[in-house]
Amino acid sequence: MKLWGGRFEHGPSEVFERFGESLSFDRRLIEADIAGSKAFCRALERVNILSAEERAQITAAFDVILAEAASPAFFEGATDEDIHTLVIRKLKERAGAVADKIHTGRSRNEQVSLDTRIWVRAEIRRAQELLTSLMAALVELAGRYPGAVIPGYTHTRRAQAVLWPHYLLAYFEMFARDWERFDQAYARADVMPLGSGALAGSGFPFDRPAIAQDLGFAAVTRNSMDVSADRDFVLDFLYAASTSMLHLSRLAEDWILYSGEEFGWLELADGVTSGSSLMPQKKNPDSLELIRGKCGRVFGALTSLFVTMKGLPMTYNRDMQEDKEPLFEAADRLRASLEMARVVVETAELRPAVPAAAAAASWVVATDLAEALARAGTPFHRAHQLAGKLVLESLRQGRRPADWTAGELARFAPEFTPGMARLMAPEEGMKTREIAGGTGPQAVRQALKEAEAKLAALRSR
Ligand code: ARG
Repeated sequence: MKLWGGRFEHGPSEVFERFGESLSFDRRLIEADIAGSKAFCRALERVNILSAEERAQITAAFDVILAEAASPAFFEGATDEDIHTLVIRKLKERAGAVADKIHTGRSRNEQVSLDTRIWVRAEIRRAQELLTSLMAALVELAGRYPGAVIPGYTHTRRAQAVLWPHYLLAYFEMFARDWERFDQAYARADVMPLGSGALAGSGFPFDRPAIAQDLGFAAVTRNSMDVSADRDFVLDFLYAASTSMLHLSRLAEDWILYSGEEFGWLELADGVTSGSSLMPQKKNPDSLELIRGKCGRVFGALTSLFVTMKGLPMTYNRDMQEDKEPLFEAADRLRASLEMARVVVETAELRPAVPAAAAAASWVVATDLAEALARAGTPFHRAHQLAGKLVLESLRQGRRPADWTAGELARFAPEFTPGMARLMAPEEGMKTREIAGGTGPQAVRQALKEAEAKLAALRSR
């Protein structure tokens, strides 16, 4: 069945039919399409195109179609152009002639916008739920090792000691921002397009706010041409998905390193790792590598739609049908990756002694020392020089920070007071960083509490 054809003498070539169809992927919009069409029937009833009886008849048929759609046989052999066409054909088969009125004053251009908006809204809520679960897993893992000390890095070089929970809460913050980004994307999708017609506005006086209310939309779109031309709301979703994947990928990268022999901090559960078909000793972090790998495909989806939309003349162009596969692909990869990351985090174990030893063996305390000198009155530039010289001398002699006694420090430079020797232990210097947002133990304890409160707030929304 076609939704057009009167002005054609010949049907589409078989090649073009295969080339142009979108049913093979936009079938995922069926629930949205039927929900939108049911609401549209109520709008048609309000403008007296459908009688109450006809509307009830159509609605009942839609319910049956929706139930049937759950079975895989439903789409078998269907050659409809797209999901909108298929739903109308099924309606005709079920409800008969009355179905011929369903598309009055409606265009597929606004319908596809509506369906996609409904789908994106639901997908955003799913992504947010998965983000919340991952954030909860990070907080739980932080709470399991509240006092664990690790070297923090810049340039992949040991920089300053931080608490393990402080490190994990950094990712918590990133995912919390992703959550907000999805909320913003939701607000963009949450605008109801029906009534726009193909591009010029519908010729029937639909009560657009009533349709919006019916479908739970916050507002109605303001310009019919914009509706037919716009896929920004899909781009917003893809951007939020991409940023989430970026954060997942960085976490994955960290943990691939931290769980390897060179670091040895983390033990990943057997359940999220794989062996080698040849090397019996291997335990590979494939789950994390796949998260990192899928990240590229989600960025690809964002880029793909950007390029599809760039330079399209007003308003709808069939190119825009190419929005759906990247959207679905990105949503699927994101959901799978968020879930995988949660399981990795839930089952990971830290070997706290290993990063603690890495911190103690390095000069992550150098900044603490320079700052202590500055607090005692040495100008910071001179303090920096002194601490740097101490590091250089230690490296020459093969000494670790803890090898220095208070007396030796004072002999090295009189500015080192006896109290400063204590700072040679990484966990001591951290206590000077109780500033809000810092890695001081109390600040981190407070941050963990706030993270838990934030989780509770996200969950109760
Ligand atoms: N399958 C199309 C899409 O996804 C439906 C939109 C309307 N099609 C049309 N030829 N005006 O974009």
